[in-house]
Amino acid sequence: MIENSKLITYAKNHGTPLYVYDGDLIIQKYKGLYELIDYPKLKVLYAMKANYNVGILKLLKKHNAYLDTVSPAEVFLALKLGYENEKILFTSNNITDEEMHEVQATGVLFNIGALSSLEKYGKYYPGSNVCIRFNPDVYAGENKYVQTAGALTKFGILMSDVDKVIDIAKNYNLKIIGLHEHTGSGIGTTEQVFESMNNLLSLAAKEKFPDLQFIDFGGGLKVNYTPLARVIDWKYFGKKVGELFREFCKDYGKELYMYFEPGKYIVAESGYLIIEVNTLKNNRGRLIAGTNSGFNHLIRPLLYGSYHHIENLTNPNGVKKVYDVCGNICESGDCFAEQRELPEIREGDLLTIKTAGAYCYSMGSLYNLRSMPTEILVFDDKEIVVTQKISNQKLAEQIIKSSNFESI
Ligand code: LLP
Repeated sequence: MIENSKLITYAKNHGTPLYVYDGDLIIQKYKGLYELIDYPKLKVLYAMKANYNVGILKLLKKHNAYLDTVSPAEVFLALKLGYENEKILFTSNNITDEEMHEVQATGVLFNIGALSSLEKYGKYYPGSNVCIRFNPDVYAGENKYVQTAGALTKFGILMSDVDKVIDIAKNYNLKIIGLHEHTGSGIGTTEQVFESMNNLLSLAAKEKFPDLQFIDFGGGLKVNYTPLARVIDWKYFGKKVGELFREFCKDYGKELYMYFEPGKYIVAESGYLIIEVNTLKNNRGRLIAGTNSGFNHLIRPLLYGSYHHIENLTNPNGVKKVYDVCGNICESGDCFAEQRELPEIREGDLLTIKTAGAYCYSMGSLYNLRSMPTEILVFDDKEIVVTQKISNQKLAEQIIKSSNFESI
């Protein structure tokens, strides 16, 4: 945890809104999984969609991290930062031919979750190695938008289509070296993880998949956003996962690699968004704290109704009152919290929005033409500016530069 006094200092040094990431915690969480999961041939792939901050990616690389990527640009960013292609898995989704060729040229392994994409990949690149994403038929995740398995999801190949997968692979001489599933984000109980694992493992018999090198159980490891959230027994999780997989490998006749690809678990708790209150209103008794950030910087409360803990950094002992903490975007839904009890807020107070390391900056936008905040990474007692907020003037110039309007 970064102390509040330090967050205030960072805000003074770099201005607000400001994202702060605790690099030491990120490494602790990443490496901690290797200690937690009781299985020696383990690879943890950081799902870089959670936060593609290059400082975080470089830091993880120093600690030998693997990556889960979902777009060609994510693959290119990882390669440019020095990740070797064999440390990257590319999980495609509605892939175009052009994207397929772009990524294939990098030598990164494809994880394919649609029969038609597999057929296309086989036609273009017969004889390749490939990983197959199945839908493990378990509904789990923090809300319906992040449940990525079960009857209605767009993700993965149905387990009942396993023979079709095998036929396509045979036709094109594809070597299936990995099987994959991802159940959802923020999976509520360990039992749901085990159920997904068992479902996928039930498909993975040697007769059907003789060339397996690994099985990837996806991400979704839960993070506590609220102090009252149900606590996961991670020790039990790590032990049980190891047991399940060992048992499977015994039947399979070979010690395969086990992959997990968490995003939130590694980075969510490391992040803080520091914002400043500049406008207070009393709207017929409803107190509204207007800030200098908005859902263009952190959309999870608006999009998913997610809870993010907020603290008043500069008046922590103020009398508690109930506030709507809102942003500066021209939409009524632009609130970080509604009817939240907080120590009295004054104009000029700094607030911190916590657990903001995953899917916050990375889901940001330039909506209302407001630039994204500065991001700093703190590790080993260093304080590094990784991305710098660009000025309003520069942003306007950039829009013009990247457009072609002169002929209009
Ligand atoms: N692997 C695959 C194939 C995924 O689709 C995802 C996330 C992950 C791994 C990492 O999941 P995690 O460990 O981070 O839960 N924007 C949402 C989360 C979307 C997750 C999408 N897929 C949120 O803010 O809650």
